[in-house]
Amino acid sequence: MKVAVLGAAGGIGQALSLLLKTGLPAGSELSLYDVAPVVPGVAVDLSHIPTDVKVAGFGSDDLNKALEGCDIVLIPAGMPRKPGMDRADLFNVNAGIIKTLAEGIVASCPKALVGVITNPVNGTVPIVAEVFKKAGTYDASRVFGITTLDVIRSEAFVAELKGVDVASVKVPVIGGHSGTTILPLLSQVEGVSFTEEEVATLTPRIQNAGTEVVNAKAGGGSATLSMGAAAARFCMSLVKGLQGEDVVDYAYVAVENGDAEYFAHPVRLGKNGVEEILSYGELSAFEEKAKNDMLETLKKDIKEGVDFMA
Ligand code: NAI
Repeated sequence: MKVAVLGAAGGIGQALSLLLKTGLPAGSELSLYDVAPVVPGVAVDLSHIPTDVKVAGFGSDDLNKALEGCDIVLIPAGMPRKPGMDRADLFNVNAGIIKTLAEGIVASCPKALVGVITNPVNGTVPIVAEVFKKAGTYDASRVFGITTLDVIRSEAFVAELKGVDVASVKVPVIGGHSGTTILPLLSQVEGVSFTEEEVATLTPRIQNAGTEVVNAKAGGGSATLSMGAAAARFCMSLVKGLQGEDVVDYAYVAVENGDAEYFAHPVRLGKNGVEEILSYGELSAFEEKAKNDMLETLKKDIKEGVDFMA
């Protein structure tokens, strides 16, 4: 298994790379790319950890070399939020970065599974898809927006609120990845129930959890460690799928005849990426309303990404 991390010298990139160095199957390769000159050092640092995962670092001129032969490409490159910014404010800077990196994937590993972390995910995933469409290499089952952070936050907050073992908590999260477009389905959490008041408080807490971190870091960036853990967990799902295991996970993917052109769904993963987009099941009245209320925002975010490439 060869995995590339693009933006590997950043806050998320370093945490994620560490978890992949210690978590990927024996015999894997980890390819670290960043425009920051520290990236070869990050690779040397990780290479001193005694696991059977080979690490190599690549600087700004070596994108194609970094991507050669990769099975999975994870992209946390780009600017994070500062207090007062929302994810949409990042679009102007990050859209160009994502486009360049997607063009690199077309050139060097067009069959790789691509996981996009760079915000705003609602719009950066369509950019990647449009780059691939232009090049004639698009396969909707290979492009993912990584929304796992919304899932793991939901698990942590539900376990905390209900005093239950966090390992037993599973929370479906659908929709997009910003503010109200993030839709946790608390009505489907097994083994616990919530009062209307709890749902009305917990839902926005999950939706605004990123801002909680941005404000707590007071100008020092956004979620990096929890995001590193989330992306590593999602990467392991992709790896298991590629190895032929039947895995279901949540991700923001292209959906035909769905609520929007891209929407986070439960997906069955396999050797070709998404093998099947699964139904998210029945929604409560609260969730149905929240979904209908946010669709306009999500569709606008998607259009921004598509228009950027038009
Ligand atoms: P950071 O600033 O610590 O790291 C970003 C890295 O990207 C830097 O090392 C920088 O040199 C690199 N970079 C910039 N342009 C590049 C290019 N053209 N090619 C390769 N590397 C490039 O930022 P952090 O905190 O790691 O966040 C990265 C991104 O992830 C941000 O857009 C942030 O909003 C997003 N994010 C996404 C989350 C999600 O749930 N999907 C959660 C948290 C953050």
